[in-house]
Amino acid sequence: MQLSNKPAPIGIFDSGYGGLTIFEQIKKHLPQYDYIYLGDNARAPYGTRSFDVVYAFTLQSVKKLFEMGCHLVILACNTASAKALRTIQQNDLNQIDATRRVLGIIRPTAEVVGELTQSKHVGLLGTIGTIQSESYPMEVAKIFPEVKIVAQACPMWVPLIENQEHLSEGADYFIKKEIDALLEKDKDIDTLILGCTHYPLIQKKIRRYLPEGIKILSQGEIVAKSLKDYLERHSEMEEKCSKNATTMFYTTESPEKFSASASIFLHKNIQANHINIA
Ligand code: DGL
Repeated sequence: MQLSNKPAPIGIFDSGYGGLTIFEQIKKHLPQYDYIYLGDNARAPYGTRSFDVVYAFTLQSVKKLFEMGCHLVILACNTASAKALRTIQQNDLNQIDATRRVLGIIRPTAEVVGELTQSKHVGLLGTIGTIQSESYPMEVAKIFPEVKIVAQACPMWVPLIENQEHLSEGADYFIKKEIDALLEKDKDIDTLILGCTHYPLIQKKIRRYLPEGIKILSQGEIVAKSLKDYLERHSEMEEKCSKNATTMFYTTESPEKFSASASIFLHKNIQANHINIA
């Protein structure tokens, strides 16, 4: 693959729309950079897919963002970070271009969790893929071995949000069900990780069914601050990130559909373009 060395936008990848909740915070904290957002909507959701499939789809998307010039790509998707990041970092980057970087969103979240919990019991909600991968408990154990992660998969939450049913009364049934199941496993949880990019959209409802005093981690802000810190520490990468404050949105599905639904996640209207990655 012949890749350009010119300064270029930071690539933000997600299976679909969810990464927009992460991107919103990145853009807020680092407005000066250019960004390319790529949503693989045609093949979303990733949360129910196998390790091999999520890895293959994510690698294709990362390569596409590299071909578009990006030197740095953020996997703004918990499922892709859980199932594809490590293999891409350890095996693929060397073969593609050892100077390019791919970062995920689980490690930055794991880095702050131990500072916030007093009880050392932390709840985790996510897709089936993220929970089954055990990536969160593994990352947290490396930094805070004393912290216990108690997890609950919430398979209905992404479809409820994507079908715009999350504010309906019916959604409350499924939201309460998973939170009750989590608390049933461990009553000492004092901190909760929303380990899926969609869940900030139902944070108010999650809060409604949680006992008072449980802290909810805001992943977008954590990732944005971590990226800022990364760019401050890595001037060689920072210099390769172009700075004209532009954003381009690409989707593997219909751009009209993406533009219409993206506003639920980004709270503003955007224009998207179609892209083929397979
Ligand atoms: N973006 C995914 C995540 O954060 C949720 C959507 C999906 O399952 O593709 O896990």
